[in-house]
Amino acid sequence: MSSQPTLIADEVLCQCSGTTRAYIEALFKQGLDVEAISQRSGALSGCGGCEWDIAQFLQALIAQQHNQP
Ligand code: FES
Repeated sequence: MSSQPTLIADEVLCQCSGTTRAYIEALFKQGLDVEAISQRSGALSGCGGCEWDIAQFLQALIAQQHNQP
């Protein structure tokens, strides 16, 4: 049993660009940093309203990476 909240992969994190959680995760796994993810997806390049959500998600992905054996 996982205590992690269920994350919905096709949830749109950036409304301005329509960037989904799954796409951000895929770019992160390619080794892109937040700036590169922004350039590639268009996320964070509009109103900036998604900044907190994307930062939180990237932190969770980084933490997950560090917890892997
Ligand atoms: S919601 Fe991401 S830039 Fe506006």
